[in-house]
Amino acid sequence: MRADNAPVIRLEDYQPTDYLIDTVSLAIGLHPTETRVTATLALRPNPAGHAGASLALDGDELVFVSAALDGSPLAADAYTASPEKFVLHRPPQQPFTLTIETCVNPTANTKLMGLYRSNGTYCTQCEADGFRRITYFLDRPDVLSVYTTRIEADTDTPLLLGNGNPAEAGALAEGRHFAVWHDPFPKPSYLFAIVGGDLDHVEDVFTTASGRKVKVAVYVERGKRERARYALDALQRAMRWDEEVFGREYDLDVFNIVAVSAFNMGAMENKGLNIFNDKYVLASADTATDSDYANIEAVIAHEYFHNWTGNRITCRDWFQLCLKEGLTVFRDQEFSSDARSRPVKRIADVRVLRSAQFPEDAGPLAHPVRPRAYKEINNFYTATVYEKGAELIRVLKTLVGGQHFRRGMDLYFERHDGTAATIEEFIACFAEASGRDLSAFSQWYEQAGTPRLSARGRYDAGAKTYTLTLAQTTLPTPDQPEKRPMVIPVALGLIGESGRELPLTTADGATDGGVLVLDGAERTVIFTDVVERPVPSLLRGFSAPAILDLDLTDDDLLVLFAHDTDAFNQWQAAQTVATRIIVRAVDALHAGGTVQVPVGLAQALGHFLDARALRDPAFAAQVLSLPGEADIAREIGENIDPEAIFTARKAVRETLGQALAGKLAHLYGELAIDAPYSPDAAQAGKRALRNGVLGLLTAGDAARGEALARAQFDAATNMTDRLGALSVLSLVAGEAREAALQAFYDRYRDDPLVLDKWFALQASIPEAGTLERVKRLLSHPAFSLSNPNRTRALIGSFAMANLTQFARADGAGFAFVADVILQLDPANPQVASRLSTAFRTWKTLEPGRRAHAEAALRRIAAATPLSQDVADIVTRSLA
Ligand code: PHE
Ligand code: ZN
Repeated sequence: MRADNAPVIRLEDYQPTDYLIDTVSLAIGLHPTETRVTATLALRPNPAGHAGASLALDGDELVFVSAALDGSPLAADAYTASPEKFVLHRPPQQPFTLTIETCVNPTANTKLMGLYRSNGTYCTQCEADGFRRITYFLDRPDVLSVYTTRIEADTDTPLLLGNGNPAEAGALAEGRHFAVWHDPFPKPSYLFAIVGGDLDHVEDVFTTASGRKVKVAVYVERGKRERARYALDALQRAMRWDEEVFGREYDLDVFNIVAVSAFNMGAMENKGLNIFNDKYVLASADTATDSDYANIEAVIAHEYFHNWTGNRITCRDWFQLCLKEGLTVFRDQEFSSDARSRPVKRIADVRVLRSAQFPEDAGPLAHPVRPRAYKEINNFYTATVYEKGAELIRVLKTLVGGQHFRRGMDLYFERHDGTAATIEEFIACFAEASGRDLSAFSQWYEQAGTPRLSARGRYDAGAKTYTLTLAQTTLPTPDQPEKRPMVIPVALGLIGESGRELPLTTADGATDGGVLVLDGAERTVIFTDVVERPVPSLLRGFSAPAILDLDLTDDDLLVLFAHDTDAFNQWQAAQTVATRIIVRAVDALHAGGTVQVPVGLAQALGHFLDARALRDPAFAAQVLSLPGEADIAREIGENIDPEAIFTARKAVRETLGQALAGKLAHLYGELAIDAPYSPDAAQAGKRALRNGVLGLLTAGDAARGEALARAQFDAATNMTDRLGALSVLSLVAGEAREAALQAFYDRYRDDPLVLDKWFALQASIPEAGTLERVKRLLSHPAFSLSNPNRTRALIGSFAMANLTQFARADGAGFAFVADVILQLDPANPQVASRLSTAFRTWKTLEPGRRAHAEAALRRIAAATPLSQDVADIVTRSLA
C-alpha cells in the first residue's frame, strides 16, 4: 500500500478490542520453506468492546490452511481468510477457542520481520507488528495473553528456544524433535519469540536478591563462544543493578540471549528470550573497540531492563512507545553512568541527543515524544521517542527529586504490573508520589521541537546583585505552528571571575537545590550578596533538552572551562568556544579571508591538558574531541555549505594541533598502556585520549602524525588502537593508506563485524573519490545489501557520517543513496526507510545542494512499487 492511501492511525481514535485472547497455544513445525503454525486461541468477548461484533484478526503475507471453532472445522461461510486478514463473522458471545493453521516461508523472508532465517538459524522479530506474519492475531500491544509454544524441528536444529520457562522436550520419529516453552506472564504478541538452530553458548547461574536461581545464557554462532563472555557478564551486572537501584528482580527460571547476524535493529526484549544483533553481543580485544564494549554493556542492560519497563508493564498502544523506550533508555544510561564515569557518560549521551535528535526535531520529520498520528509505526522508533524520551524522564526526576522519583517508580510498578499503560498513568504515579501538579510537565510529551533557552545577566557591583533573565521560545514544527512554553528545570551555579563557586541567594528561594524552574516564556531572578562579577553556569548536567543561547563572551566561557565545578558545563564551555571559532572561520572563508588562530582556546586547552589529561583521560578525550561538521552545521542553521564547514574545521584543528604539538607528543607517550588489554573504563579512557591526541597531532603535523599512526597500527594489540590508527591514516590519500586498509582487510577477511568497520571507515573518507570507492565496494564479495549491518556500514556511513560527500555539490551523492534505497526497498523496507532519513536535514542546505536533494527525494517518492515505510518518510520529508 502506498503511504498516500495508507490510513492514518490516530491516538484519539483508540478503542479497546471487541475480544480478548486469554491464552495462546502455538505448535510450530520448523521447515526452511514451509513452516506450519497451528495457533489455538482462547477468546472471549471484551466487556469493554462492542457486543456481537465480528472478530477480525491481523495477518501479513500469510498462507491460510484451516480453521476450527471449539474443535470443529469452520463452515466456509463462517469466516473469510486472506493473506492480510482472518474474519470470523459471528463469534460466540461466551468464551470459545479458535484454532487456525497457517504456513510461512522463513527462508524467503527478506524483511526480517516475523519468522526468518539468519545464516540458517531460525529466529523471529515481532515488534511492532511482525507477529501477524506468523499467525492471525489481534496484533496490538493491549491484548495480553499467556503463551505456550511447542516447537518441532529436524534434529539438525538441536536448539529450540521460546519465551518463558522450558516445560518439556523430547525426540520424535523421522529425525524430528520438539521442545515446549511456557510463559506464565501475560504479554502482548510483539514480545513473542522463538529460535531454532545449532548454536554455541556460555551460561551461568544468577541468584536473585530473594535467592531464586536463574540460568542465564548467551547463544552465538559456532566458533564465537569466547566472544560472548563480556555480554554474559554485563547481563549479570545489569540484573544486580536493577535490584539495587530500582528494586526489580528477574521473574523467570531462565534468561536467554541469542545473537543473530541479520537483524533490522539493535536488539529485542522478547520475554525471557532477547534476540540481538550480534554486533551488540560479540566482543574480543582483537575485534571490538572500547566503544563496542560500552555499547554492548548498554544494549544488554537496555533489553534486560525492558523486562519490567516494557514487558511486565507494556504500552496500551504504539503512541505510548516512549513509555517503555524513553524510560528504558534512561535506565540503561543510569546503569552505564554507575558502571563508568557519570560525567563522561552524560557528555556522550548529550552528543548522541544533539547529533541524532536535534536535527530530527528541527526538520520535516519532527514529531512529539508521544506522536498523535502515524501511518507506519516502524518509522517512529526514532531518536525523539528514545533519546528525547529518556531526557524527559531525567527532567521529571529533576523536578520531583530523587526520592519522589523512586517512590513514583515503585508506585508505577505496583499499580500497573500486568497491564498495558499510558503516559498519563505513568505521570500520575509521580504526581501522587510527590504531591505535585505535573500537568505542565506533561506538555513535553505533546509538543515537538527543541526549546531555545536564552539567558541574559547583569551584575550590579554596587548593590552586589546579579539579575538573570531566562526566556524560551520553540520554533514551529509540522502540524504545530503555535508553541507553548515548556517546564524547563535549569540547574545552575555562579562562578566568580576568581574561579570560585558563589553561593546562590535569592529573596524567594527561587533556586532550591541549585535548580531554577522556568515554566513561562520568561523569568527574572535576582541573586543577592554576589561579591564579585559572576559567570553563570546554566543547564548544568544538561538538565533539559534545550538549545542554550548565552550572552557570555569567549573569556567568560573560558572561566567556566577552567573553574566550573560541573564537569558537563566545563566540557560544554570548551565546545561552545570551539564552535564559535569554527563558525567565525566559516564566515571568514566565505568573505575570502583566512582562519584566525584560536590563541585563547589553545592556551586554555594547554592548561587543561597539563592539569587533567593524566588524571581523567576519558573526560579529557571528550574535551579534545572538537565539535563535528554536523554540530557546526546545526549552529549555522541554514544555507549550509558542507565544504566550507569542513575546510574551516580542518584549519582550526590544524592551528590547535600546531599550538599544542609539544604537549600532544608528550601525552601520546605518557598514555601508552603496558598492561594486558581490558575494556574497563580506566583503560578505555586512556586509549580514547591517546587516539584523540594522535588525531589532533596529525592535524597539526601530518608527517609526524602519520609516522606515529603507522607504528601504532603495526604494533596494536587491540581493535581500539588498530582502528584509531587506521582512521587517522585513512585521512591522508596515498599508498600508505591503501596498504593499511589492505592489511586490515587481510587480517579480518573472515570476520563480518570487523569488515563492517572497514566498510564504514572507507565510506566516511571526506574526499571526492569516496563515492567511486563506495560504488566499487558495493560489489565487494564481503558486501551484501541483504544484511542490514553491511548496508548500514557502507551506505549508512556514507549518507549519515560523511556530510561533504553525501551532500556533494554535483548531487551525485544524493543520487547514489536514492538508487540504493530503491534497490533495497522491495526486499527490506525497514532498512531502506531508515536510510532515507539521511535526507532529513536537506532543507538546511544551500540552494544548489538543496535542489539536488529534493530531486533525489522526488525520484524516490515517484517510484512504484514503493513500500509504505519509505513512502511515509520521503513524503513527510518533502512536505
Ligand atoms: N524494542 C527494541 C528496543 O528498543 C527495538 C526494536 C524495535 C527492535 C522494533 C526490533 C523492532 O530495545
Ligand atoms: Zn528498547
